[in-house]
Amino acid sequence: MTRAVLVTGGAGFIGSSLVRILLDAGYRIINVDKLTYAGNLESLAECSGHPGYAFSQTDICDRAALDALFAAHRPAGVIHLAAESHVDRSIHAAGDFVQTNVVGTFTLLEAARAYWGSLAAEQRDSFRFHHVSTDEVFGSLGREGKFHEATAYDPRSPYSASKASSDHLVRAWHHTYGLPIVVTNCSNNYGPRQFPEKLIPLMMLNALAGKPLPIYGKGDNVRDWLHVGDHARALHRVFERGGIGETYCIGGNSEKTNLEVVDALCAILDEMRPRADGRGYATLKTFVADRPGHDQRYAIDASKIERELGWSPQETFASGLRKTVDWYLANDAWVAHVQSGEYRNWIARNYGERA
Ligand code: NAD
Ligand code: TYD
Repeated sequence: MTRAVLVTGGAGFIGSSLVRILLDAGYRIINVDKLTYAGNLESLAECSGHPGYAFSQTDICDRAALDALFAAHRPAGVIHLAAESHVDRSIHAAGDFVQTNVVGTFTLLEAARAYWGSLAAEQRDSFRFHHVSTDEVFGSLGREGKFHEATAYDPRSPYSASKASSDHLVRAWHHTYGLPIVVTNCSNNYGPRQFPEKLIPLMMLNALAGKPLPIYGKGDNVRDWLHVGDHARALHRVFERGGIGETYCIGGNSEKTNLEVVDALCAILDEMRPRADGRGYATLKTFVADRPGHDQRYAIDASKIERELGWSPQETFASGLRKTVDWYLANDAWVAHVQSGEYRNWIARNYGERA
């Protein structure tokens, strides 16, 4: 029988990429997503008619609804991506981050534990609860060094603190109750279908609209960038082959300052969509006040997943960024619907219900 996987947050940026990969690999998917501002079913338009795909508009804080989904679909595992994911939003309003990332993860763990406990021995043994997390839980690096699986936690923003809490809960459910879990901590993703509040799509769409490109502080903060397709392939690999109770750090080996990212983006746009007035997009760069508590540098040592599971990124930053710009330029309807808010009506238009 086809294995069913309950994916939370499947209508988000990384989730929508993962759902495609898992459907292609022959899984049955139950996409459990509340559809916050970041959830966009238009990102899964071509999956909605797939016989292996089901969607449920459900909040992961709703225990009764989760119990009903486990009972109805009898999944062989869970891949948990649902979260509030944007650092700047967490600085302005942390409540939703604690609610979804901490309370929601706790609620999902309890529902998964109850269901897992009811399974026959063979299914209990093969069940996996895969928790998808971030490298931001490790804090901020100076010039040297990289995060790895044994790095001590030191989260510094409301977002990273809420993700760190969820990582601790997941590991506690393994050590205390034996729930078969695996955790991944990944660096900054970019690629198609990312909500334009994060650095790369925000800069790209501002540039195309002739608006300023707001660079926080001096623009010398460093992030490691990984194409979302490479992250989704890593998640697929870890879900199938990762060791129970293990953690895997995932990264692109692509450290860039924010200024380097914005300059690379402007150069690609200059080539693909030159401005009518002939001025380069880089002239739109504007230095603005720094983010409070802005982490200086993130970098990942991904040697464990490379060595043990044979995963490595397929895209370089240069190839991935070019493909990303290409995608946004070719998908102007998706972009226009996100910018106008029209994407929120997709469920009503396509399922005949109110969103
Ligand atoms: P996203 O913000 O694009 O998507 C999050 C999804 O979760 C949305 O579809 C949203 O509707 C859903 N959601 C939010 N609250 C929910 C709730 N209470 N119940 C059910 N669904 C809910 O996020 P993303 O960038 O795709 O990130 C996915 C996961 O990967 C997150 O857990 C994030 O912490 C982690 N992560 C992200 C990055 C990155 O660079 N984006 C890097 C490493 C790890
Ligand atoms: P972001 O995409 O929000 O990811 P994270 O904060 O999780 O790493 O930001 C990436 C980097 O870009 C971070 O150092 C903050 C910076 N940044 C800007 O300089 N300007 C912006 O408008 C945004 C959104 C981010």
